[in-house]
Amino acid sequence: MKYLLLNGPNLNLLGSREPEVYGHETLEDVEAKCQEWAGELGGTVEAVCSNHEGELIEAVHSARGRMDGIVFNPGAYAHTSYALHDAVAAAETPTVEIHISDVESREPWRRISRIGPACVHRIFGRGVEGYMWAIRHLHYRALHPPTTRAYGEDPDNVGDLHLPGAGRGGGPYPVAVLFHGGGWRRVITRDVMDGAAVDLARRGTATWNVEYRRIPPVGGWRAMLEDGTAAVDYLRELADEFPLDMERVTTVGHSAGGHVAFFASRAARNARVQPARFVPLASMLDLDLSARSHRLGGLVERLLGGEEGTAFDDLNPTGQVPLGIPTVALHGTADESVDVKQSRNYVQAAQEKGDQAELMEIPGAEHGDFLEPNSTAWQEAAQQIIDPPA
Ligand code: DQA
Repeated sequence: MKYLLLNGPNLNLLGSREPEVYGHETLEDVEAKCQEWAGELGGTVEAVCSNHEGELIEAVHSARGRMDGIVFNPGAYAHTSYALHDAVAAAETPTVEIHISDVESREPWRRISRIGPACVHRIFGRGVEGYMWAIRHLHYRALHPPTTRAYGEDPDNVGDLHLPGAGRGGGPYPVAVLFHGGGWRRVITRDVMDGAAVDLARRGTATWNVEYRRIPPVGGWRAMLEDGTAAVDYLRELADEFPLDMERVTTVGHSAGGHVAFFASRAARNARVQPARFVPLASMLDLDLSARSHRLGGLVERLLGGEEGTAFDDLNPTGQVPLGIPTVALHGTADESVDVKQSRNYVQAAQEKGDQAELMEIPGAEHGDFLEPNSTAWQEAAQQIIDPPA
């Protein structure tokens, strides 16, 4: 795989330019890292940086038919340039728009992206690591192209369907609905689950890797939970078109996505799709513990948006069991983001309320390991998702 790494105006000043916003790494550092990240996935990177719109347009044109993807940080041109939008659209080369900073929490004009609609994905606010996620997205997309569908009206009501044996028929396939984590924040999107989604599909389980509205500035927890339910419900529509087995639906969530998946599984009990299993990975299932954690406390406050009392109880999976469907929770013992105790407490409470629930602790596994298809943590998780115990 060959990727064009394209950086726009003022990004040549990385390292010295507003380091409190963009960090201390230079453009050279970023380009070297991208080369390394692409190399780990068997790819290479050609890096171009320009302060001139016309040169950027020509670089995009040059990728056509020559590159497998473009990782494009257009700088401020993202917010203004229709010409770059058209260049990306014309290049017919999958392009990921990336910004180092969280453009949504800065000046309002930075929230606009003219280029975004021509891109296959958009990543912002993850620092320089955002470039890595962009490369990964292009890699997995090339390996196993998804069918992207909207399950509702909001731009975040979308998901990627990965079908096993694409184009070769077969099925009906069991389905895993994947809910990504990221503390319900908007800077993390479903691309973090790409590795899991593609791995499962290649092993015979269809995946529906969904986006959902995260907490303010857009939405709130109600909208978020509505989306979780609607995303599962939409499988009915997908099953009319694709060979999906509605009797074998598993909901899977990572981190805060496990929290969303819990409520999606519960609400779905009365809806058109009844998940058969729930597999939360390193998930935020005990909100009491989350609220008291120095890493997660602020996120819970944001989730509640000032609503205490009932909202807290209603939103705490550990207090809302039984779920009523078989559950296998997996959690790494070395998780420094979400304490393994969250899964322990949840599973204990679920069992006490009569759920068929099991905990699998993965010795030494860290929080992000579940996103890495080659990790032991993910291999164990995949086994649980693919092979439900009889
Ligand atoms: C940027 C964000 C843009 O708004 C800004 O104009 C840049 C850098 C980023 O990487 O965060 O130049 O693209």
